[in-house]
Amino acid sequence: MNRIEKRLVFSAQDIAGQVHRLARQISTDYRGQDLVLVGVLKGAFIFLADLIRQLTIPSQVDFVRLASYGTGTTSSGKVKITADIKLEVRDRHVLIVEDIVDSGLTTAFLREHLLARKPHSLKICTLLDKKERRSIAIQLDYVGLQLDEGFLVGYGLDHNEAHRNLPEIYELIQ
Ligand code: IMP
Ligand code: MG
Repeated sequence: MNRIEKRLVFSAQDIAGQVHRLARQISTDYRGQDLVLVGVLKGAFIFLADLIRQLTIPSQVDFVRLASYGTGTTSSGKVKITADIKLEVRDRHVLIVEDIVDSGLTTAFLREHLLARKPHSLKICTLLDKKERRSIAIQLDYVGLQLDEGFLVGYGLDHNEAHRNLPEIYELIQ
């Protein structure tokens, strides 16, 4: 039988430190303005919840639900929106909040989708960046933690819907 094991990659303390740093930087960069955070469900729900509680600027939240991976661990390359934002973002400052950017296809697609709504500005914040795996060039404005490879679970990230509840981030080892 194929038992899946997991190895600790980032502790709750590592994560909290990055969330704190990002929140401080975002609060500074948008000082005097207000911000719409667009979280990408489901993976970003915990990160967004922690991040927004540390922002010192007025902010609003909305979510999109995107499907790109199905049940596997590699990108299908196809992205579709299964639930869209409801807030009006025209002329607003918008920040996409992602759990992880891997190939970049999901984020690039969402960026184009939101740009069509004519926001005043649009930036991207991701907790995790798998930079080496990028298949499309995309500028990430705020990055928490970087790694080269591996499939991660915990702190919102799942494998077949499992492990989202873990307070730490682990790499799955097959
Ligand atoms: P991309 O389109 O390849 O950049 O993939 C983006 C989406 O795939 C993320 O928002 C995650 O939902 C999922 N994903 C990519 N890598 C991982 C991982 O290591 N663990 C869990 N989900 C992942
Ligand atoms: Mg996801």
